[in-house]
Amino acid sequence: MAREVTHEERGPAVLDDEDKGDDGLIYVCRCGLSDSKPLCDGSHRATADEADGVVYKYADDDPDGERREIAGIDYEDE
Ligand code: FES
Repeated sequence: MAREVTHEERGPAVLDDEDKGDDGLIYVCRCGLSDSKPLCDGSHRATADEADGVVYKYADDDPDGERREIAGIDYEDE
């Protein structure tokens, strides 16, 4: 399971105490689908049934958008 997402920011985010959840922890998005990056907003729930070894693309990087399988992630510009 993997997914292709588009990141448009060009620098880091600074986190502070206001980013902490009710439990005092900061939850950083690692799935790439959060609308509140770099913070987790629960969007990762959409990935729960992704199959191992498959790469997905969500329409508009929206966890509620159409999900399709893609051949792989294009690293051509690296
Ligand atoms: S890990 Fe990405 S939204 Fe939670």
